[in-house]
Amino acid sequence: MSASRNVKEQIARLREEINRHNHLYHSLDEPEIADAEFDRQFRELKSLETDHPELITDDSPTQRVGAEPLAAFGQVVHEMPMLSLDNAFGEDDMRDFDRRVKTRLDSTGDIEYACEPKIDGVAVSLLYEGGKLIRGATRGDGAAGENVTLNIRTIESVPLTLMGDDYPARLEVRGEVYFARSAFERMNREAEQAGQKIFANPRNASAGTLRQLDSRETAKRPLTMFAYSVGIVEGWELPGSHAEILAKLATWGIRVNPLVKTVTGVEACLSYYDEILARRSELDYEIDGVVFKVNTIRDQQALGMLTRTPRWAIAHKFPAEEGVTLLEDVEFQVGRTGAVTPVARLKPVQVGGVTISNATLHNIDEIERLNLMIGDTVIIQRAGDVIPKVIAVVEEKRPKIAKPINLPRSCPACGSEVLQPEGEVVARCTGGLECSAQRKESIRHFASRLALDIEGLGEKLINQLVQEGLIANPADLFRLTEAQLVELERMAPKSANNLLEALDKSKATTLPRFIYALGIQEVGESTARNLAQFYRSIGALREATEESLQEVPDVGPIVAEKVAHFFQQEINKRVIDELLAGGIHWQMDESAADPKALAGQTYVLTGVLSGLTRSEAKARLQLLGAKVAGSVSAKTSYVVAGDAAGSKLSKAQKIGIPILTEEELIALLEQHGV
Ligand code: IVH
Repeated sequence: MSASRNVKEQIARLREEINRHNHLYHSLDEPEIADAEFDRQFRELKSLETDHPELITDDSPTQRVGAEPLAAFGQVVHEMPMLSLDNAFGEDDMRDFDRRVKTRLDSTGDIEYACEPKIDGVAVSLLYEGGKLIRGATRGDGAAGENVTLNIRTIESVPLTLMGDDYPARLEVRGEVYFARSAFERMNREAEQAGQKIFANPRNASAGTLRQLDSRETAKRPLTMFAYSVGIVEGWELPGSHAEILAKLATWGIRVNPLVKTVTGVEACLSYYDEILARRSELDYEIDGVVFKVNTIRDQQALGMLTRTPRWAIAHKFPAEEGVTLLEDVEFQVGRTGAVTPVARLKPVQVGGVTISNATLHNIDEIERLNLMIGDTVIIQRAGDVIPKVIAVVEEKRPKIAKPINLPRSCPACGSEVLQPEGEVVARCTGGLECSAQRKESIRHFASRLALDIEGLGEKLINQLVQEGLIANPADLFRLTEAQLVELERMAPKSANNLLEALDKSKATTLPRFIYALGIQEVGESTARNLAQFYRSIGALREATEESLQEVPDVGPIVAEKVAHFFQQEINKRVIDELLAGGIHWQMDESAADPKALAGQTYVLTGVLSGLTRSEAKARLQLLGAKVAGSVSAKTSYVVAGDAAGSKLSKAQKIGIPILTEEELIALLEQHGV
């Protein structure tokens, strides 16, 4: 059955009209018709398509919403990695950045920069082929993300078909998906009224919504997007500047931030920053800074990039945000090693779009330092994702009924005595593994990513298992049975099996991970590695005297005392024996690094490393017999260049010394078992 030409034309005309009005409304914020008229056109198209289903195409505006929920997202490997940005935290950093750019470009004149607000949302990649949206993906780790095409299609400001006729055959648009503040507030209000879960902030809401497996749910939530660059481009010659690329994207119907501006010189960048900061609160979206990009594409190419960040762009971050509220109470939480930490319970307050109701107080001395009392008006600060903190008390506002804050004498979890040894800032519960809070935390640590990395064993489940008396220490984990697990609330046989499988998988580990997982006080990841390297077996470490322990790199008398003490405790001895008997194992030679593996080689570290600290990198290289020097010379074997590497890197390039990225260094270290 073929539809008459008339119907086809009518459908085509309606689609074009609807797309045009969609664009006017969602991208340009300049609607030409009333919502009711738009709805009428939409209904008309829908009804024609219902009568002629053979004429429905994927890019029809009626086809934004998928049907059945997905079981899982597929993976998308980015053909070009999605980079992130280096940060500038003040004017000095910005001037340094500008200076580096000029030096590298050998330029004495002012640089032209494209300036843009830095949107606090989720980075995505949209792939158009022949003008049709064929794939949407999240940034993920920059190398690979998730295929969220069905969710991206629900975003009205994302065209399913590009406008015009001069678009590239293949075009990857990159940008930030976000929730408008107003839409976010409306959605949370409605969710609250319906007794549903509310989101903490617009960023979380956009991430959560984009990762919905049921795109019909995503469609109910008004996400939107700003494009900020392109990735793959085929069949089109890039214009000469970033600003022109964005302008071109806009002509194809892609939404671009209207606050994008091109300026000349770093001083003008700083004014742009001030201008946007001043307007921050009036914007209907959250921003955490502004981004400056060298505008000329040829210059961008000349500047090139580091491992994860381009040298031609920088994010100038806004300062941490502050708020004022009431300290309603202070609670004391007990950590893995019994440390009793005060946490401020605050009257909920909005700070930069996020509701804050808790803040960390670090320790009892901090409370004294701040001169804090319950009932006080306090100033709190939040910076990005870190836990907010109380930075000051407004003492003039202290009410008469303000109450002093005292360290509890007994543990809030188990009632054991709390002691603060003379001269130490940390107070501890003396309950040891008798204390349920310490048990929970030590098991949580044992299962954590850098320890045994037990997938699916999260905080809630651990609390449940401890509460039910099914586990009291890490060794008990490996005795759990399916029958016990399915008895738990919200635990289906499938999840129980997944957990048992994850537990089984975690048994194959490494000695450094195992030592770290034990949760010995003062033994972090890098000390655990040094201990493994030095003793090479858990047996030898268990027998080590305090004296011998102090020979291990970076281990002083305090750490040595803690380690020796840990292995003397009967309970710890027993748990370790049981873990080993339960099948935890590692390859013996994995930590047996050859101290001569890199003998005779000299390394120079420069720039900012992000996966490991400079001193850690140095220590690990030295374990393999390499020398680590401070300056580059003809004798240098390799230069390891982190982000924002400067003159050492240029010198190395000039005299032809091979350069390693941070990732390559880590791979090298791991290959040699350190
Ligand atoms: S450009 C090669 N521009 O910030 C540069 N990023 O830390 C790639 N972001 O992952 C990014 N607004 O999610 C750029 N106007 C903007 C941005 C922006 C927000 C995000 C983006 C990126 C992160 C970098």
